Amino acid sequence: MERLSKHLAGPELWIKRDDQTGLATGGNKTRKLEFLVADALAQGSDHLVTTGAPQSNHCRQTAAAAAHLGLGCSLVLRGSSPPRLEGNLLLDRLLGAHLYWAAERECGEVMNDVVAELRSMGRKPYAIPLGGSNVMGATGYVLAMEELTTQLGQGGPNVDFIVFASSSGGTQAGLVLGAKVYDFRGQILGISVDHPADQLKTLASALATATATHLGLGTLSVADRMDVNDDYLGEGYAQVGETEREAIHLLAQLEGILLDPVYTGRAMGGLVDLIRWGAFTRSQTVLFWHTGGTAALGAFAERLL
Ligand SMILES: Cc1ncc(COP(=O)(O)O)c(C=O)c1O
Repeated sequence: MERLSKHLAGPELWIKRDDQTGLATGGNKTRKLEFLVADALAQGSDHLVTTGAPQSNHCRQTAAAAAHLGLGCSLVLRGSSPPRLEGNLLLDRLLGAHLYWAAERECGEVMNDVVAELRSMGRKPYAIPLGGSNVMGATGYVLAMEELTTQLGQGGPNVDFIVFASSSGGTQAGLVLGAKVYDFRGQILGISVDHPADQLKTLASALATATATHLGLGTLSVADRMDVNDDYLGEGYAQVGETEREAIHLLAQLEGILLDPVYTGRAMGGLVDLIRWGAFTRSQTVLFWHTGGTAALGAFAERLL
């Protein structure tokens, strides 16, 4: 990102475009769903069930994967239906997903009911946890690290830091485990979108260890490489502030690349702030891993301008 690097006068900035992975506008869930959906198909499932926030990118990508494979899809969404269907919600409906609003109830509880109801109708539902963050989902990001190290080895830059948006921990668990497996020596920094750093580190470390066992890598811990910055939680989840707004405008106008208001806007806003504080030297290289989410932009229009 030459123009952004020059504008900030800090480290050399690169970007990895997981907003271009496909599944109804792309995002980090494509790499997770590659393994989750393979597992669903191996088990003979015919319906995907998952959960998330009303503007969940994970839910929208799950709906797209289901449509692509001719599977049914039910989404349990937090809260109640908003007056207008926009952003990811609009896409969920276009993709043919059934929407269930949890209202006052716990999403997990409603999901159990939906799974039981589908079973009673003779369907074979496959339940995917929040954010697709279990050992199957995290495996997608272990392999993403293989892809990155291969690209870097084929004439790419020498990356000192990877910075990205972290929330349910699956992306971070996979990247950090993948770094160990594929010998990536740089630092991996998750910018927390909604959790205190200690909580997210514990969650992602446990998931990385479970994923290592799942992949037959033995018992290993990567807790010492689990770095989380929670300085940018702002007013809370999906509350767009000046940090997100500035980052979205900067990347759009200097690079022609869109960020999302909830995840990547916050993570890039954090990176910009860290650069201004002098957290990196000019000779270092930082790779921003774009995890998608731009389908949500329209739903936040009045807070972005
Ligand atoms: C666009 C975007 N970026 C980042 C994340 C965070 O990924 P993870 O849940 O694996 O931490 C999510 C999902 O929660 C997302 O939708």
